[in-house]
Amino acid sequence: MLFTSYIELNKSALNNNIRFMKEKAGPGAKFSMVIKANAYGHGIEDLLPMIEECGVDHFSVFSVEEARRAIKVKEETCHIMIMGFVDDDYLEWAIENDISFFVFTPERLEKVVEISKKTSKPARIHVELETGMHRTGFCNDQLPWVMETLKSNSENLVLEGLCSHLAGAENLGNFPRIRQQISTFKKLCGNFMQSGLKPGYRHLACSAGVLNFPESSMDLVRVGISNYGFWPDNETKMLHLENGKSLKDPLKRVLSWKSKVMSVNRVKENEYVSYGASYITNRDSKIATVPVGYGYGFSRNLSNMGHVLINGKRVPVVGAVNMNMMVVDVTDLPEVKVHDEVVLIGEQGEKTITVSSFSDMNNSMNYELLTRLPSRIPRYQTE
Ligand SMILES: Cc1ncc(COP(=O)(O)O)c(C=O)c1O
Repeated sequence: MLFTSYIELNKSALNNNIRFMKEKAGPGAKFSMVIKANAYGHGIEDLLPMIEECGVDHFSVFSVEEARRAIKVKEETCHIMIMGFVDDDYLEWAIENDISFFVFTPERLEKVVEISKKTSKPARIHVELETGMHRTGFCNDQLPWVMETLKSNSENLVLEGLCSHLAGAENLGNFPRIRQQISTFKKLCGNFMQSGLKPGYRHLACSAGVLNFPESSMDLVRVGISNYGFWPDNETKMLHLENGKSLKDPLKRVLSWKSKVMSVNRVKENEYVSYGASYITNRDSKIATVPVGYGYGFSRNLSNMGHVLINGKRVPVVGAVNMNMMVVDVTDLPEVKVHDEVVLIGEQGEKTITVSSFSDMNNSMNYELLTRLPSRIPRYQTE
């Protein structure tokens, strides 16, 4: 093993999640899989071909850099949409490569008009509307100008979409705000249509939108986290597990993260372990070192808090997590030896370390933990 850990990507889990989310979104909505932030840490290059095999042909990324990575591995028939940053220098590249992208400021729209006049193809744009999140999007008073600009440049601009983003559709307490956003979005889309503009797709739903607000699916959905096997939030999970009555989770984790025991040592009672004095042995102990630390995405906050699986048993991380290593207490597992498999996320025997148990402890969301996994860790497909 060249690297100190590796990630497995499970194809049948991915297929299961995509099918589940497609069914929730309904047949009328184009299904776009969000693969920004290195496909939520799973790895764009490794996962994209697997997603295609699960019947998805539309991908949403955040930046040109991600679009360029996706383009290298995707099938020709698949489409890429950039939802975030496109610097002026790359507008021409995006247009020539048939990449569609969000437009959310007057400066951007003017620049797209200017550049699209020089390109051999029209720009495929998605006009983002401000509906209540107050992040990006055209405000109401800018819309007459936007509509006029679209009409007077119809040879160079294709209005492929009207879009917006929901500001937290996973939390019950936020539901009134989300309902208001959906209603505002529908009204604004109506204004565009009445003025004679016909967007290819109207879209604003992310995973939580699809799950909690079926009416938000409209013509296209941009689904990220749930395709990877995670609920956007525990509240949404409980709502969908028959209000907590069913324990059978329809979503399956795609990713597992594994390593190996690097060394095994004996430590006497009353000795400190790892840097500093945060852990002292309370008995004669056996400790194992695992070659994964915060430099590989295993948070330092998991010092004396995290757990891993070895020989089918859950064992605690003791002392401070180092940059490249962590120490675990295997005193109760006399058979543990160098080279034994260590599971950081995933299953071993009957036991599982879930990403959410991991990230609750670490006080960060699934999203954050996943996207911190370094891209250099090798990824392998499992069936
Ligand atoms: C604009 C936009 N659309 C869709 C998504 C996908 O969200 P989720 O991963 O919750 O499905 C995101 C994620 O942050 C986003 O920023």
